[in-house]
Amino acid sequence: MLYVPFPLLQRASSSTPIFHIDLPRTLYFSPPTATMPTTPTTPTPITPWWKDAVVYQIYPASFKDSNGDGLGDIPGIISKIDYLKDLGIDIVWISPMFDSPQVDMGYDISDYEAVYPPYGTVEDMETLIRACHERDMKVILDLVINHTSDQHRWFQESRSSRDNPKRDWYIWKPPRYAEDGTRMPPTNWRSYFSGGTWEWDEPTGEYYLHLFAKEQPDLNWENEDTRNAIYDSAMRFWLDKGVDGFRVDTVNMYSKGVEFLDAPIIDPEFYEQPAWLYYANGPRMHEFLREMNDKVLKHYDAVTVGELPHTPDPKKVLDYVGASDKQLSMVFQFDIVDIGQGVARKYQFQPWKLPLFKGIVAKWQQFIEGTDGWTTAFCENHDQGRSISRFASDAPEYRVLSAKMLAIMMTALTGTLFIYQGQEIGMINVPRTWPISEFRDIESVNFYHSIAAQTNNDAATLDYVMRSLQILGRDNARLPMQWDASAHAGFTDREAGAWMRVHDRYGEINVARQVGDPESTWSFWREMIRLRREHGEVLVHGAFEGFEMENEETFVFAKRGGGKTVVVMLNFTGEEQRVEMPYEGLELRVGNYGDVEGAEKSAVGRARVLRPWEGRLYMMMGGH
Ligand code: NOJ
Repeated sequence: MLYVPFPLLQRASSSTPIFHIDLPRTLYFSPPTATMPTTPTTPTPITPWWKDAVVYQIYPASFKDSNGDGLGDIPGIISKIDYLKDLGIDIVWISPMFDSPQVDMGYDISDYEAVYPPYGTVEDMETLIRACHERDMKVILDLVINHTSDQHRWFQESRSSRDNPKRDWYIWKPPRYAEDGTRMPPTNWRSYFSGGTWEWDEPTGEYYLHLFAKEQPDLNWENEDTRNAIYDSAMRFWLDKGVDGFRVDTVNMYSKGVEFLDAPIIDPEFYEQPAWLYYANGPRMHEFLREMNDKVLKHYDAVTVGELPHTPDPKKVLDYVGASDKQLSMVFQFDIVDIGQGVARKYQFQPWKLPLFKGIVAKWQQFIEGTDGWTTAFCENHDQGRSISRFASDAPEYRVLSAKMLAIMMTALTGTLFIYQGQEIGMINVPRTWPISEFRDIESVNFYHSIAAQTNNDAATLDYVMRSLQILGRDNARLPMQWDASAHAGFTDREAGAWMRVHDRYGEINVARQVGDPESTWSFWREMIRLRREHGEVLVHGAFEGFEMENEETFVFAKRGGGKTVVVMLNFTGEEQRVEMPYEGLELRVGNYGDVEGAEKSAVGRARVLRPWEGRLYMMMGGH
């Protein structure tokens, strides 16, 4: 048997509640700051426009269908811009809407300068950009330039013959041969979507490299013509149409180095092995990014947020985000969303404890202190399970409290804040009962089938895989947006429904139900975004300090900046927990339980008792 039996499915620190609680009737937000004592604040230096921004990520396939074909589209996005403005969003990030065969949901681009027809047209994109700008919002696109689709004309030319001028635009290698003469790929590298990273091309007798699907060949960044073509087609084309920057896909994999070595064996059941050591953060990475800035980005004041997997060392991350070096504005470092993933195989869920989570938050909050770097605050995107289900509780009695508790945490963190569509209404993971046939993501589906083949359909192993997918799988985030309680969650008018099954609980969790309700998760997020903006000097820019970092039940941290101090107290369990207020003189500003003011008044000294999944935010004008 390959896998350890599936471990305890609940987080180690959660357990049955010791008493029953009613959902809060009202939330607590304290009176406005005007009533607070004021002390002089240090003037805030001028910062780039994107640091204080709140970014909202849209996954086009699943946001809003405007024409009844079951798939989201650009006019659908345009119809919801006022909704985003109302929430307090400053930047809209659109995941790939370019023309694509959709092997990897648009991360396989066949034409950077065209829009996937079911999503709309380039003119629709221009309308979208204009509509955002008219409302003082910016737009960023996904920049997917580590690879293209195999249907891109560059690759079609490249594969047409060994002496085609574009042959060297992709990474081609001759085979190796085993002692018995068997043809072997150049290395044993494992691709992200299972199987190897090399595809044999019979007509030209060479392998090409694909770190992702075989339909996503890697571009050869060593070739200057390739780089210049990327800058023109994928970047200038859209910057000239007014986009304000890019989220840069797998930004640290362009430079593969020159040596193609076999990766060490850490998963002996398979020939292919994880090999990011050999292709991530390669020797010319920083040179390429400086060039990209110099030739393109600096001429547009464009923002970039790079996706930086496999980079746990803060010094290495700083090499990318130091402002004076002009490479990337900021990055997504992935420790927080990698929590619970297996080491050799992503979808081998491992239980974890709260100190791990807190340590990661603290590390990536503090790494920029005293530097000219910048950071991001995020816990969801289109590649992750939903944060309520992963980090808190999606049980009916705790779901709303959990959503608000996490909203308090996220909006109090330093860095540019990213919210993923549906996070603002507390969308949760797929139910445990959904079979693999409901999943659409190439990564999840390929992984399931590779394990099924390898274990001869072992039921216990496949159950473990399904459980892991239900927690970590990318499809959790890709379910259609839940707009209202009508058929198909108001996402589409198509009788047959959306391209992907809608969540079973959309009647209860949807936008229409929450927007007008001052006690809803949506209203809470909106209020927290407003508070974050009002106190940006401490919430967006402040210095972070964690307390009792080994405590497995609660997370208490402070932020300091602009002459203000904030303390955040969070209970990550379904039981009452005692915590200590680390400083004196702070006033309660926010709570996810309506009656928190009474609880605060009866508190003795520094001790506080937090109820299940309770979150509180305290503030004081004046530092400690
Ligand atoms: C990262 C993207 O977020 C993911 O969705 C995609 O599959 C890979 N990069 C490949 O582009």
